[in-house]
Amino acid sequence: MTLAAELLDIATRIAREAGDLARRRREEGVTVAATKSAAADIVTAADREVEAFVRAELERVRPGDGFFGEESAATESATGVTWVVDPIDGTVNYAYGIPAWAVSIAAVEGPADPAEWVALAGAVYNPLTGEMFRASRGGGAWLGDTRLAVTNDVGEAGGLVATGFGYDPATHAPTLAQLGRVMPIARDVRRIGAASLDLASVAAGRMDAYYEKGTNPWDHAAGALLVEEAGGVLGGAPGGRPGKGMVIAAGPAFFPRLEELLDYDR
Ligand code: IPD
Repeated sequence: MTLAAELLDIATRIAREAGDLARRRREEGVTVAATKSAAADIVTAADREVEAFVRAELERVRPGDGFFGEESAATESATGVTWVVDPIDGTVNYAYGIPAWAVSIAAVEGPADPAEWVALAGAVYNPLTGEMFRASRGGGAWLGDTRLAVTNDVGEAGGLVATGFGYDPATHAPTLAQLGRVMPIARDVRRIGAASLDLASVAAGRMDAYYEKGTNPWDHAAGALLVEEAGGVLGGAPGGRPGKGMVIAAGPAFFPRLEELLDYDR
């Protein structure tokens, strides 16, 4: 078994257990534990508990690996492998009871700078649909037994484009200006509220493209590998064309049309 396949098995098992824990906690009710960058940027007690569970499991089965999660301090890797974890991606959906949130777990190799990471394995699990999206480097992207492939020719109607809006009010005006530029080449626009599911949707051909400014590695590391392994093109994420600040993902024909309308830095 290759290292990537081994890491994917671990990511998949832990994502399933973590997602099921988060689902059970949701059934008991939601406790908002804190806010982060803005009042709208919330952390629930379940975010913290699920991240602690994932972290402990990873430490047990892969001692010495690094950890880079949304809710706790990062640790450096002694093995070259780092786990990049969002215990509940789509926390606002989770809190409101909207069934679009996921556990996102990626294993990456590389130095401390996330821009230079190479993702080896990634799992994105939506416990409410039971869908486990998974990918390993060179091993393809999968949903169950179905190999995933991005869409390519979007035709005259334009692409179905997913996006997101950051929590920082200063970014809202430029974000809306970018959206205005994209609309003419979009069939329609979706805002799902979970970056990992947006990227998984592009990989699965359910969306033609996704872009968002201001996501963090835990939001996009696993989903970016899904897109790459499904034949998509990436910008601004590990494995993608260089660009910081914005992630862009689409099929090979649509990507350049979208990229030329967007600005990675704004
Ligand atoms: C958020 C979601 C959302 C995206 C934000 C992310 P979180 O992650 O992925 O769709 O627009 O940029 O921060 O906070 O729910 O883990």
